[in-house]
Amino acid sequence: MSEQTLFKVTVDGITIEVPAGTTILQAARQIGGEVAPPAMCYYSKLKGSGGKCRTCLVEVSKGSEKDPRPMPKLVASCRTTVMDGMEVKNITSEKVVDARAGVVEFLLLNHPLDCPICDQAGECHLQDLSFDHGKSKTRFEFQKRTFKKHDLGDKIQLHMTRCILCYRCVFTADQLTNKRVHGILDRGDHAEIATHIEKSLDNEFIGNVIDVCPVGALTDKTFRFKNRVWFLKPMDAHRDCPTCSGRVTLWNRGDEVYRVTARKDEWGEIEDTPDGKPGWICNNCRFDKKNASDWVIEGPRAISRASVISQGHYAGTVGMTKPTETFLAVNGGRAPHLLMDIHDESEVNKPNIHLGQIQGPSHGDTFENKKA
Ligand code: SF4
Ligand code: FES
Repeated sequence: MSEQTLFKVTVDGITIEVPAGTTILQAARQIGGEVAPPAMCYYSKLKGSGGKCRTCLVEVSKGSEKDPRPMPKLVASCRTTVMDGMEVKNITSEKVVDARAGVVEFLLLNHPLDCPICDQAGECHLQDLSFDHGKSKTRFEFQKRTFKKHDLGDKIQLHMTRCILCYRCVFTADQLTNKRVHGILDRGDHAEIATHIEKSLDNEFIGNVIDVCPVGALTDKTFRFKNRVWFLKPMDAHRDCPTCSGRVTLWNRGDEVYRVTARKDEWGEIEDTPDGKPGWICNNCRFDKKNASDWVIEGPRAISRASVISQGHYAGTVGMTKPTETFLAVNGGRAPHLLMDIHDESEVNKPNIHLGQIQGPSHGDTFENKKA
C-alpha cells in the first residue's frame, strides 16, 4: 500500500498534519473548537455539498511552502484543499470576521425572525451564527420574500421563508433515495424549494432532510409545536430495524417520546455508526416509533455545554453524574424553612376557593365577593 502524503497546515496559529486532499474546513475541524469555521451548506456526509453560503470564508495568509504568496481573496474553506505549509486565519483575521458579519446580514435579509415560534429554535445553525456574528438591527427596508405554500405530505413541513437555499435537502434526496421529487425551482430572488406540481415526499429515507436542514425550513410534522427542544431530555436509544441502523436520539419528557432524530455529532451532522457508515434513519423509526417501549435506551446523550438544550439539565450537560450534595450539606446543616405563606400574602390565593368552579375568567372581585 502506498504511503499517504501528509501536508502541514496552520490554522489560527495551530499546526497539524493532514492527508493531501483534505479541505481547510476539515483540517480546522480536526483542531476543533472555535478554529473550525461555521458551515451552513457544507455537510461532510453529502457529496457535492458546500460552496453556496460563504459562511466558512477564511483568509489564506500563506499559500504554501513552495509559493508563500497569500491568496488575494478570502476563500470558502469547505471547497479549498490544503497545500503543504499553508497558513490560514479564521477568527484571528479581521477581514474574515467582517466578511462573516456581512454573510449573516445577507442570510437574514429574507429570513423571518420567528424564532419564538420556530421548532428549530435552540438547535438552529443560523440562530447560532447570528448570535456570534449578527447585528441587533437590520438595514433592510423592503418587504421580505413570501412564497406560495407547498404541501410536502403528512410528515414534513416546509416553511420556504426560512430556507437559506443551502441545497443540503436536495443532495440528501438525491443520494439517499432512488427518486428525488423536490429541488430548487427558479433562480435568483425567486428560487425556492418545491416539488414539481404538488407531490409529497414519501420515500422511506426522506425524513433525513429534516435533520440536515440547518434552519427551520423543513420540520417534523409529528413534533410541530409540541414542545421546545430545551425542555426535552435527549436519550440515545436503538432498536432492531430491518431498514436502517436503528440508532437514534429520543427527545423525551418524562417517559413520553416527543421526537426521534438521528444522532448528531458536534458539527450538527449525522454521526457514523460503528461500522463507519453515516447513521441515517428511516421514516418508520423517526415518525412511527414514539413509545419508549419501542426502544432499548442506552442513556442520556451528551450535549455541548454551550447549547441551550443543556441549560435545563444539571451541571449544564446531560449525561453528567447527578450532584450528590443535599440542601442541608450546602446550607451549613440548616434545613430550609418556609419563609412566607403565599395564602397570607394574597387574597387571590385562598386555598378553599376552588378555581375550577368560578364562572368565566376570574379577577380580584371574584375573590373579594366570596366569603372564605
Ligand atoms: S429547505 Fe433547508 S436543507 Fe433545504 S435548501 Fe432550504 S435551508 Fe437547505
Ligand atoms: S459551508 Fe462553505 S460555502 Fe457554505
